[in-house]
Amino acid sequence: MKEKGNPLMKKDLFINGKWKKAARYQSVISPYSEEVIGVVPSANEEEVNEAIAAAERARKEMAQLPAYKRAEIIEELAEKLEQKKEEAARLIAMEAAKPIATAREEVARTIQTYKFSAEEAKRIHGETLALDAAPGGENRLAFTVREPIGVIGAITPFNFPMNLVAHKVGPAIASGNTIVLKPASQTPLSAYFLAELLEETDLPAGAFNVVTGSGRTVGDQLVTDPRLAAITFTGSPSVGFEIRNKAGLKRVTLELGSNSAVIIDQGSDLDKVMARCVKGAYSFQGQVCISVQRIYVHESLYESFVEKFVKETVKLQTGDPLDPKTDISALISKKDLTRSLAWIKEAVQHGAKVAIGGKAEGNILYPTVLLNADPSLKVSCEEAFAPIAVISKFRTVEEAIEQVNNSRYGLQAGIYTDKMQHALLAAEKLRVGGVMINDIPTFRVDHMPYGGVKDSGMGREGIKYAIREMTELKLVVFHHYEK
Ligand code: SIN
Repeated sequence: MKEKGNPLMKKDLFINGKWKKAARYQSVISPYSEEVIGVVPSANEEEVNEAIAAAERARKEMAQLPAYKRAEIIEELAEKLEQKKEEAARLIAMEAAKPIATAREEVARTIQTYKFSAEEAKRIHGETLALDAAPGGENRLAFTVREPIGVIGAITPFNFPMNLVAHKVGPAIASGNTIVLKPASQTPLSAYFLAELLEETDLPAGAFNVVTGSGRTVGDQLVTDPRLAAITFTGSPSVGFEIRNKAGLKRVTLELGSNSAVIIDQGSDLDKVMARCVKGAYSFQGQVCISVQRIYVHESLYESFVEKFVKETVKLQTGDPLDPKTDISALISKKDLTRSLAWIKEAVQHGAKVAIGGKAEGNILYPTVLLNADPSLKVSCEEAFAPIAVISKFRTVEEAIEQVNNSRYGLQAGIYTDKMQHALLAAEKLRVGGVMINDIPTFRVDHMPYGGVKDSGMGREGIKYAIREMTELKLVVFHHYEK
């Protein structure tokens, strides 16, 4: 661990609308410089308990808050974030080693996510039902309402420390719930930054609480405490499965990993698709659940695709995340760097060819292109979460679709094609949560439904869809018995 060069950011727990000293603290380390950049609480059982109790007490007030008021609070939050957007982006860049230009994109998206949440707060409603469609259902007026589910435990990952938090906090407040947030231990500062912004709004005390610490202590406690009605988690499949197994009857939303793929069909204009494919593979060092990890190129285009892809990849600049010229910075941890290098080595030992990259400097893994990699290798079949792209060729689009589907994951997939039949075939046959036609799987705007099938998770985010997961449907039947 190196000496710190920046002023240290020290945060306390945020519970019941107040900052509270913790019994123990842990360091936040910059993945790039390895300096200690902050100190945050490592919450114990009692402290987590306090946060849950505060969220439980605030439940009633939140549930009774009118929609316009919930919308106003979130709008105010979005405005405050807009005013501090550069500070927010620098924070993300420092704690996640996200290149500053990409961190700025994340903040802009976070503002959007909150704005969508404010809008959706005003659109939560049920429907009327024709009960007289069944004999015995006559003379009844029936309708449904959507009620807040209660206390929500949000467990968020390091890769979008502001926007993936917003995807849980925005819809939760919009639908009148209360939250206990446990951010990733590598990137807790963004979550405390959000607490500072929310503290200045009219959000009732206790509606939003932040507890940091180990997954075992804090995460497990949130998942097993009966006062929580739902858990919304984004992270690794192994943790997701554990949560599902421990959560009992709690509502569980899981956004897990993927080894996302794109198909480049015969006839594609490579000059048009190249920039998107390179961005999709290497943005934030490939640490995005919908990164372009597998690229299937029609055999007629394979050689020229590889050549152009490598030519574009060479241009990417590695370095300090705070330097605006940097495209690729450090991986989130040394452990991930070691793992990525081991996967590349394994691929090479089994006949894959490194077209570029495959080496590291400091904690930075150079953007890597692998060819001839067998589908059974980890670089192909597991989620790399690193700047690694595997390029393979195919003969027919049916074969390409089969290869994409040959995965335990199914989050999003893309196909570039000028053939309507192939586009429709891909839309029908790809086993994923979202099919992008003429785009990479990495496409996401924040109000679209987002989530996967197979080991990529369950449930959907994308404000309106997350609100469905965070509300309970109640039926009201009104009998006109004097009719
Ligand atoms: C994720 O990594 O799951 C989020 C991707 C995104 O929001 O762009």
